[in-house]
Amino acid sequence: MPSETQTVSDAGARRNPSAAAKRPAATGPRWVVPAKIAVFVAAWYPLVRMVFFGVTDRLGANPIEFITRSTGLWTLVFLCITLAVTPLRRLTGISVLVRFRRMLGLYAFFYATLHFTTYLWFDKWFDVTAILKDIGKRPFIMVGFAAFVLLIALAATSPRAMVRKLGRRWQTLHRAIYAAGVLAILHFWWMRAGKHDLLLPKLYGAIMLALLGWRLIVWLRGRMALRAKPG
Ligand code: HEM
Repeated sequence: MPSETQTVSDAGARRNPSAAAKRPAATGPRWVVPAKIAVFVAAWYPLVRMVFFGVTDRLGANPIEFITRSTGLWTLVFLCITLAVTPLRRLTGISVLVRFRRMLGLYAFFYATLHFTTYLWFDKWFDVTAILKDIGKRPFIMVGFAAFVLLIALAATSPRAMVRKLGRRWQTLHRAIYAAGVLAILHFWWMRAGKHDLLLPKLYGAIMLALLGWRLIVWLRGRMALRAKPG
């Protein structure tokens, strides 16, 4: 999915994602494949836990609320992890970390889809009037929806064939993950502000700020270095 989720792996790939997509997948250290399998399996934990709570009758007095909140929070967690891949790769020098990005981003999309479906189907039973009324009372829902629309676009353009087809436009489009991250925080913050419980939104807001701030600093430094170049 998002720029943060593609398997293109180096600075050259950043400049020309479509050329990178044509290259065969790079072989990496031996641990990469088992680690990818481990991440793939671990990412099912939130869903398995929810199903387990469901069958053992531990979803609380309001199971729909539990599921909506849990899937929302896990979407945010996967968004943060996806956005953390590039800084981690740069800081540790472990370049193969980039090969985990697409999978992590697709899991963010997967949990966002569960979150949205729970709301639309099990909470509102596709009742458009009830949804519009709810949005009138809780506008933060529209902000979450805007973030979800961006994630749909990113997921739809995540296959290698799309990277090739879109060329340089792919890179620009996939910057939308930053907007999705900001909207996700705003959605969470706004929802919790109504309940006067901002501890978690502040925590995730700080994480998002650090992840996006790091990118801004790298970008500004790059521009300054370009300007300083003679000629
Ligand atoms: C990237 C997309 C999204 C993210 C990251 C996200 C994240 C979250 C988070 C973190 C919460 C609060 C969980 C908690 O309090 O522990 C939440 C709540 C909620 N979200 Fe989203 N959300 C997204 C998209 C959506 C969409 C598309 C809808 C519906 C159209 C939606 C509807 C809701 C509702 C109704 C709640 C409040 C549930 C309640 O009152 O218990 N969200 N979301």
